[in-house]
This record gives sequence, C-alpha cells and structure tokens, in this order.
Amino acid sequence: MEKHGYKDLAHIYDRVNQNKDYIKETDFLERILNKEDVKTVLDVGCGTGNHMQILEKRGFKCDGIDINQEMLDIARKKVKGELTQADMANFELNRKYDAIVSLFASFNHLKNLEKAEKALKCFKEHLNKEGILVIDLHNPKGNGEKHEKFEDIERKMKWKYNPETKIEHTKVTFKIKGRTIEDAHTMRIYSIKEMKSLLEKTGFSMQKAYENFSFNPASSESKNIQVLAKAKK
Ligand SMILES: C[S@@+](CC[C@H](N)C(=O)[O-])C[C@H]1O[C@@H](n2cnc3c(N)ncnc32)[C@H](O)[C@@H]1O
Repeated sequence: MEKHGYKDLAHIYDRVNQNKDYIKETDFLERILNKEDVKTVLDVGCGTGNHMQILEKRGFKCDGIDINQEMLDIARKKVKGELTQADMANFELNRKYDAIVSLFASFNHLKNLEKAEKALKCFKEHLNKEGILVIDLHNPKGNGEKHEKFEDIERKMKWKYNPETKIEHTKVTFKIKGRTIEDAHTMRIYSIKEMKSLLEKTGFSMQKAYENFSFNPASSESKNIQVLAKAKK
C-alpha cells in the first residue's frame, strides 16, 4: 500500500483523469480569452499541462507554474511554454500576462484566506493592465462516496466537508493492475461572496461567476464555479 500526493500521482494523473473533458473546458476559456483579446496566458497550478496544450494548439502563448516538479515533468513533454516550479501564493516570474487561469480546483489547495489573498496579490502583479483572471473552484455540498471503474482502473473516493471550517478532506484509493495507491487531499472551499471580497481587496473586480464551464450563472449549489475577474487599472 502506498500513500500519495500529486508528487507521486503525477505518473498516473492523466490516466485517472482520462474522462475529464479538457476540450469542453478549454472551449469555455477560449470564448472568454478571445472576447478580451488575450494573447498570453499563465496557467497557475497547471499540473500535467492539459489545458496549456490545447491553448497552445489554438494559438495562445502559455506559460505554467505548479508546486510539484513531477507534474511539470509530464507537462514538459506536451507544451512549448515556460514551466516554473513555484507556490502560487509566493512567486515572481518577472513577466506579465494578458490572462491568468487556474483550473481543476488548484486554487482550493490554498488552505486559508490569508494564503488565498497572497496568491491573488501575486496574480495581480503578473497581469497586464486590465488583465483577466479565471479561477475554477470546487464547490462540494457535503459528505459523500463514489466508486467507479474505467479500463483497468478502479477508483474509490470518500469525502467529508465541514461547513464550519470550510475544509473538505478527501481520501482516494486507486487500484490499477493489482496495485493499490492511496491519495488524500485537503481543500479550502471558497464561496462566491468570499471570492468577491478577496478579489476587491487585491485589486480586481469580479465580473461573473459561472457554473460547470457553461455560461450559466453560478449559485451556492453549483458543483464547480468559474470566477471571472478583471485587474483594476
Ligand atoms: C487537480 S490538479 C489540477 C491540475 C491542472 N490544472 C488540471 O486541470 O489538470 C491541482 C494542481 O495544483 C497544484 N498545486 C497545489 N497547490 C499548489 C500551490 N500552492 N501552488 C501551485 N500549484 C499548486 C498541484 O500540484 C496540482 O498539479
């Protein structure tokens, strides 16, 4: 039995996420980016580079940062852009972008408001004047369990959400070809109201909160929320 984080999950990350619709998510992003005439993008918590890869194919110039070098090593094989190992709450790339995106709940790995505020300040420093920010947030409703099988992979997930602390703990067990891999992660859940106030405090104005990569407005019941904000002048 092995205990893992992204560091050791990197080599199976793309296989276990093979049913995630990166194309649909990037279509959604592209509509927003084109509307704002974005040419350069920084993907924060870019992981194995799946959104970056599609954005590059569609003509955007993308760089990425991630805290785990093992995830970036996989991304390196797919993307041309610069990849930097860095904590999103404390980084300095000495360059600015037209847009910053942070997808598949990478932002929820920031465990408290203080960290979230630090990250947003860093994002602001790395954006051109009136640059845009898209943050995809996980938004659970309570406790739950899920058991799925695809190809030779079996995944069991069990999560507990504490609405007082706004912390969700998830345990995941993968069985792949007779091998068992255990993963556990903790996420801080951010409400739309909290995001609005954090964004205002750090030099952004929140434009919209969408749900599940559609252009429908998000609510507290949405499974995933995509916050769109603009850096103030
Ligand atoms: C669920 S994965 C999402 C990866 C990618 N965005 C995707 O859509 O596949 C979350 C990523 O956030 C990264 N991450 C977690 N905390 C981070 C931090 N403080 N700074 C930068 N990256 C972080 C992890 O290493 C992991 O690659």
